[in-house]
Amino acid sequence: MTAKTTHQTPPPTHTIPSQIKTQIKTQIKTHQNRINTVLERVIDSTYPDLYPNLLHRAICHSLLGSGKRFRPFLVYSCFKLFDSILDKIDPLAAAIEMIHTYSLIHDDLPAMDNDDLRRGKPTCHKAFGDDIAILAGDTLNTATFELLSTKLPLHFSPETCLEAIRYLSHAAGAHGMTGGQTHDMHPVNKNPTIDDLKHMHSLKTGALITAATVIPAILCNATETEKKALTSFGYHLGLLFQITDDILDVTSSEEQLGKTPNKDHQQNKATYVTLLGLENARKFAKEEAKKAKSTVSYFGTKQTTLVQLVDYIAYRKN
Ligand code: IPE
Ligand code: IPE
Ligand code: MG
Ligand code: MG
Ligand code: MG
Repeated sequence: MTAKTTHQTPPPTHTIPSQIKTQIKTQIKTHQNRINTVLERVIDSTYPDLYPNLLHRAICHSLLGSGKRFRPFLVYSCFKLFDSILDKIDPLAAAIEMIHTYSLIHDDLPAMDNDDLRRGKPTCHKAFGDDIAILAGDTLNTATFELLSTKLPLHFSPETCLEAIRYLSHAAGAHGMTGGQTHDMHPVNKNPTIDDLKHMHSLKTGALITAATVIPAILCNATETEKKALTSFGYHLGLLFQITDDILDVTSSEEQLGKTPNKDHQQNKATYVTLLGLENARKFAKEEAKKAKSTVSYFGTKQTTLVQLVDYIAYRKN
């Protein structure tokens, strides 16, 4: 596959309506503050005896940085469809962000995307070496399941906790994130079709995003119809999220992204932009946004935040 894109500036018309932007930005900020506090608490209580060794410092470097915390926000927003006591769902929000951070640490390694910059800082392996970066990722991965199995049963039934843990481990593994990353590194089809790309995106990015939308419903004993709607929502939102990531790779700056732009092009990665060009990739993103919104219409007035979030992701700048 030959990538043909060059660094391009987005058209100025590509913006989110300002009223929606203000509302959703405020909500995102509130939940970012919440999850940052939760994550600090989790790390302090999980590893008191490790402090201040290398592993602990590497985990803090990557996890407690300036991530957008999009997945925790999704967890909280979907949980609010069923329950309002957010303390109960803090462990799940933290767990998904921990798995996501582990996936980023490994994604940046020289053997994978070989990136130097992440969340506005040197990547974990640049700061601590490949060995510690691998171990920090491994540790976050296992710490996630320790956290969930310890904390979820305080608020939810044993059956739903087991199902939540099963669902997340499945989403993070060969049928989800790591499977998708494998397709990304070793495409079966050297000239991938849009369907190949969709499949890869739905695994490497969509599976964890769908876990964030569905597991709150599992824990709250939601109906099958509700779980189905949130599964579909996660699927389309996950695709939208990775398409916009691919678009930003060619349209955004290092300063805005906090990571190196134009990486996909440098590495000859198959993306919506390399396959379709920028404008058609934007059209695809809009279609996925529309589909994501329609999947949550079932929730009536409770869906507002989710719908606004879709627009926020569709028009995101980082
Ligand atoms: C980046 O995820 C990797 C993808 C799955 C596209 P984010 O864009 O959510 O990264 P952070 O968490 O904000 O750093
Ligand atoms: C990474 O996709 C997805 C996962 C980490 C699972 P990318 O390789 O496109 O993510 P960035 O652009 O490095 O954040
Ligand atoms: Mg990658
Ligand atoms: Mg990468
Ligand atoms: Mg990318």
